[in-house]
Amino acid sequence: MKKIIVTIDGFSSCGKSTLAKALAREMNYVFIDSGAMYRAITLYFLRNHVNWNSKAEVIKALDNITLCFQYNAETDGCEIFLNDENVEWLIRDMLVAENVSEVAAVKEVREFAVAEQRKMGKLKGIVMDGRDIGTTVFPKAELKIFLTADPAVRVERRFKELYIKNPNITIDEVKSNLEMRDYIDSNREFSPLRQAEDAIVLNNSKLTHQEQLKFALRLVKEKLEAVTV
Ligand code: DC
Repeated sequence: MKKIIVTIDGFSSCGKSTLAKALAREMNYVFIDSGAMYRAITLYFLRNHVNWNSKAEVIKALDNITLCFQYNAETDGCEIFLNDENVEWLIRDMLVAENVSEVAAVKEVREFAVAEQRKMGKLKGIVMDGRDIGTTVFPKAELKIFLTADPAVRVERRFKELYIKNPNITIDEVKSNLEMRDYIDSNREFSPLRQAEDAIVLNNSKLTHQEQLKFALRLVKEKLEAVTV
């Protein structure tokens, strides 16, 4: 059966993972949340007091990191394991969120993560979301979606997510964290967030999950019809 690679890139809290997960389920593809990999690396660095401004420390630390995803039938999601520990919940912490953009901007960290991501896509049949998936990780992916949403909608979505874990969080904190991450993600030297030239832009501010899924499935169908091998 023909299989393709689908990439979904965009800023934080645009709903990339929600769409990627639903699309992967519908197509029976593997879903990979590449942001979770950068978050897990950040968690490791924070726990082990790794100075990510030191190339030597970063290289040594990356040598001790193994990342993998495992499907959890209870949550119906792929969860990330850092050296055999399920850290899916821990990596959503605010402390990780505050530092992950800096860690993800480190050249060696990116090389490590991109190499792992490419291995995961070897057999195709994958939906991966992130920032540089359509530009750097899989520049030849058959379908590239660039997801956007209005800033106020993104802040609201992110706030709702974080509030469940931390009812003391304020809208302002969430807003400044998102703005900071947007800035670092789009201005970093290596593999900055940008839209691939051949990506299809989808602004989902006013769309339901179901509408987005329908739109994406139509694109997949078109791409599959066009694929010859
Ligand atoms: O999607 P997310 O918010 O979980 O991503 C966490 C951080 O990782 C975010 O600041 C950007 C970075 N990231 C990246 O640089 N490249 C990716 N492919 C995915 C995420």
